[in-house]
Amino acid sequence: MSKLVTIYGGSGFVGRYVARRMAKQGWRVRVAVRRPNEAMHVKPYGAVGQVEPVLCNIRDDASVALAMQGADAVVNCVGTFDKGGKNNFEAVQVEGAERVARLAAQEGLGNLVHISAIGADAESDSTYQRTKAAGEAAVQAAFPNAVILRPSVIFGQEDGFFNRFATMTRFGPVLPVVGADTKFQPVYVDNVAEAAEKAVLGQVEPGVYELGGPDVETFRELMQGMLSAIYRRRIVLNLPFFAANIVGGLLDFASAVTLGLITNTVLTKDQVKSLKKDNVVSEGAKGLEDLGVKPTAYPAVISEYLWRFRPQGQYDDITASAKNLNI
Ligand SMILES: NC(=O)c1ccc[n+]([C@@H]2O[C@H](COP(=O)([O-])OP(=O)(O)OC[C@H]3O[C@@H](n4cnc5c(N)ncnc54)[C@H](OP(=O)(O)O)[C@@H]3O)[C@@H](O)[C@H]2O)c1
Repeated sequence: MSKLVTIYGGSGFVGRYVARRMAKQGWRVRVAVRRPNEAMHVKPYGAVGQVEPVLCNIRDDASVALAMQGADAVVNCVGTFDKGGKNNFEAVQVEGAERVARLAAQEGLGNLVHISAIGADAESDSTYQRTKAAGEAAVQAAFPNAVILRPSVIFGQEDGFFNRFATMTRFGPVLPVVGADTKFQPVYVDNVAEAAEKAVLGQVEPGVYELGGPDVETFRELMQGMLSAIYRRRIVLNLPFFAANIVGGLLDFASAVTLGLITNTVLTKDQVKSLKKDNVVSEGAKGLEDLGVKPTAYPAVISEYLWRFRPQGQYDDITASAKNLNI
């Protein structure tokens, strides 16, 4: 019987790349999510029945244990930006992370991979970053041999970063950003997945790895890189932190008074706090090189999926190549 890996959050942006890699390795893959009916896109990653979405809520012991039954390794890709509601920071990023690690240790599983984030810090002002740090601590206490991966902002076809700002270019000549001078080190989603794959296969030392790509750029520079990929010119406007705080507060308030009917996916006060600090690999941290993963630069990849935001979509390149035709 081939080996089995359970990927909590295996239908999400990062999880699906991990699922695909493990399927290619010949493993059976169990994708444990709250909405397996919306996770059918993972099934063609393998042969019939090789990749199976199953119902699981990381907030519940019994359901996490059931999804783990018979597994040889687990990967936890569940995270949230949601402060309120049941699926909040504490429930998912601390208690959920601890639950997966504790049950994996009880089951005697070989390898556990936990996806955290650069910036995880017990002293941070941001609840996202504090709960990421608390989650890491809980994982290491329960499963000391865990491999913890801390990516910077992740890019790839389904990303929520470049796609979001490229979408915003459709609304007018100004592209507002918060923390234009904050530095990021974008990492390719499949590089993160490759790191997770190696950890599942037991090819890396346990510990914490910070994952960043080859480019360290400010938010403003990244936006300029994105604009040149979509052949558009926009004014990148830096929204001062105090103004962003007011906007985030109003949006959080709208979400709270409507009891979550309006979800704030635009900008939260907590995100404003984390945007104040650079999001790059720390000095001396272990990273992609230690994992034997060659980092991919973002300019080489984003054009492959952001072309739809160009003024004439896929036809821009055809028009440009036809310009020199002598007809
Ligand atoms: N994307 C980035 O740029 C980035 C950067 C740094 C770190 N990270 C971290 O990387 C990890 C993966 O991020 P992502 O971008 O792939 O997230 P994502 O696309 O939002 O995916 C989240 C996944 O978790 C599942 N999930 C959510 N709540 C759950 C629950 N209570 N029980 C079981 N499954 C649940 C979701 O499926 P259902 O909704 O069907 O349950 C989905 O499959 C997270 O820990 C995130 O913090 C991401």
